[in-house]
Amino acid sequence: MGLLDGKVAIITGAGGGIGRAEALLFAREGAKVVVNDVGGARDGTGGSDAMARKVVDEITAAGGVAVANFDSVATAAGAAGIVKTALDAFGRIDVLVNNAGILRDKTLLKLDEEQWDSVVAVHLKGTFLVTQAVVKQLVAQGGGGRIVNTTSVSGMLGNFGQSNYAAAKAGIYGFTRTAAIELQKHRITVNALAPVAKTRMTEDLPMFQAGMESLTPEHIAPAALFLGSELCGDRTGHVLAVTGSQVFAYKVVQSAGKFKDEGAAWTAQEIADHWDAITKV
Ligand code: NAI
Repeated sequence: MGLLDGKVAIITGAGGGIGRAEALLFAREGAKVVVNDVGGARDGTGGSDAMARKVVDEITAAGGVAVANFDSVATAAGAAGIVKTALDAFGRIDVLVNNAGILRDKTLLKLDEEQWDSVVAVHLKGTFLVTQAVVKQLVAQGGGGRIVNTTSVSGMLGNFGQSNYAAAKAGIYGFTRTAAIELQKHRITVNALAPVAKTRMTEDLPMFQAGMESLTPEHIAPAALFLGSELCGDRTGHVLAVTGSQVFAYKVVQSAGKFKDEGAAWTAQEIADHWDAITKV
């Protein structure tokens, strides 16, 4: 008995890295998997069918069921193509993991418009487009289903040289919260994963050169499985983070704050004077 027996799962960007590990695990747990990947370079340039096909071959060789799709998540036509592949092959959809991503790191002063637009297009717009196309199908099927988005510590806390990526990933957080609220009535949970793992996206970071080999995509995939399976229950709108053997949650907190006399506005000077009390959590 697998946790995803009889389910159909779409995983975007599943031709390598974390998405590949998720696809292999989902298939082992009984899901029929759509392995989507444009097969480009880390910065999103180029493309080939080879990456997605290879993962489909791995799944099939292990006795699982999978089909490849090579559409870009960053266009509405691509999102429609991904849904069409799932329906043509398997007739329904149950789980979507929005995992596809690219990197174009530059400090803010050097970042150009193209580097901004391309990163936001794949991560943030791609998450919106594929989610919307899939949710329309989930609702047409009578409701129920699970969406797993992929955010990042960069989006939650910020990171040097990643204003484009961090903005896209923080946007995915806001999108996740709102979609979770809106889709509750259709019994669709929407959560996000914040992974850290050694992949081609991160392998040149100093932390991954210092022997942190335990930070693998295989450490991340079970958390995606949790959020994509019935084990997740009715939990929705959460950010589950995995870094190697550590699992934790990111939460936005609101401080208790401080009230002035009934109806009175705070002056800028008063905010400065009471900063610690206002911001204390
Ligand atoms: P990766 O580069 O191995 O995987 C990303 C995949 O997305 C690639 O196979 C790529 O071809 C595919 N892709 C890119 N643009 C696409 C498009 N338009 N349509 C369809 N597929 C496309 O990198 P990794 O590390 O596996 O990243 C997976 C996700 O996890 C990304 O969203 C990334 O931002 C996120 N993440 C990864 C972290 C890490 O430590 N590796 C940290 C935080 C977040």
